[in-house]
Amino acid sequence: MNIGIIGFGYWGTNLVRNFALQKDADLKVVVDSRKERESVLTKLCPTATFSTSADELIKNKDIDAVVIATPVHTHFELAKKSLENDKHVLIEKPMVPSTEEANILIDLANKKGKVLMVDHTFLYTGAVKKMKELIDSGDIGNIKYFDSTRINLGLFQPDINVLWDLAPHDISILNYLINEKPRSVQATGVSHTNNGIENIAYINVNYDSGFMAHFSCSWTSPVKIRMMLIGGDKKMIVFNDVEPTEKIKVYDTGYDHKTDEEKKQVLVDYRTGDIFTPKLETKEALSGMAADFISAIKNNHSPLSDYNSGLEVIRILEATQISIKNNGKEVLVKQ
Ligand SMILES: NC(=O)c1ccc[n+]([C@@H]2O[C@H](COP(=O)([O-])OP(=O)(O)OC[C@H]3O[C@@H](n4cnc5c(N)ncnc54)[C@H](O)[C@@H]3O)[C@@H](O)[C@H]2O)c1
Repeated sequence: MNIGIIGFGYWGTNLVRNFALQKDADLKVVVDSRKERESVLTKLCPTATFSTSADELIKNKDIDAVVIATPVHTHFELAKKSLENDKHVLIEKPMVPSTEEANILIDLANKKGKVLMVDHTFLYTGAVKKMKELIDSGDIGNIKYFDSTRINLGLFQPDINVLWDLAPHDISILNYLINEKPRSVQATGVSHTNNGIENIAYINVNYDSGFMAHFSCSWTSPVKIRMMLIGGDKKMIVFNDVEPTEKIKVYDTGYDHKTDEEKKQVLVDYRTGDIFTPKLETKEALSGMAADFISAIKNNHSPLSDYNSGLEVIRILEATQISIKNNGKEVLVKQ
């Protein structure tokens, strides 16, 4: 199987490194419109050919699959052309800027019988796999809340706001861990530059069961925080992604409550027990993601981070966009 990658910038470099190491596929061509990237490719992967033309790659009959790692506003056209030219397609997160475009790509992939996948890298990390295992085993109990902070002094993106840049990670993890579909979102954000692109934003995602998710994203924090809290009614998980090894801690912490009918008061009993640090798989997530794409093509199965995963993320992001423009109004998430 022959692979081509379009976009050899920051993330494309990681993709090239990981696809070059896959046993079941050959990385044949890497495209970037910046000619100066050629010498970098020659050092990183001398067996791949460099080109500045995405069109040439997409029309190349020897290429079976295309990986798209360009800025978000280019994803739709490149993916659509690739599918029309009978290629399997892997798109970087966020998949595309609208659910309308996502649905067009999904219909096209189904019509052509091709794999369409989105790189939600976190789903392939040892930490997220462990959290899934803990939640599915019932160890954590009924999940009551999910609270994620993803802030640092980040690169201001010229075409997307901080939520479209950072929140796909949190939303894809949320959707993977929690089976319930969201009802609505409320989001607020602010742009401190004069281009109207929010650099700080907050989202609440609301669910019918009373489970609630909250995200805080910023490119303007002096410290880097990558912290996720997941509260169950038996135990609680803290995922601290800046920790080098002990990323996940499971707290045997909880509370019971009863109502004193006479005093019309809720009485809360707290419980704090042991803290457990599970062992995590350390394999590079991007390598697992690349292997899943190749295996989905070879064995005709749906990858973990499939187009539905991509679409569900876009549905929430699209609703946040409307909410932000309407000062935090509750907006229903399309189903
Ligand atoms: N999965 C992750 O964890 C992760 C992390 C970072 C970025 N990303 C995603 O990867 C994508 C790229 O982000 P980045 O940070 O690497 O951006 P980048 O600007 O560093 O790289 C993009 C590259 O694409 C090239 N390019 C743009 N349009 C092109 C075209 N039409 N044809 C050929 N080359 C073209 C540019 O020259 C540039 O080198 C985005 O969708 C981003 O959200 C994903």
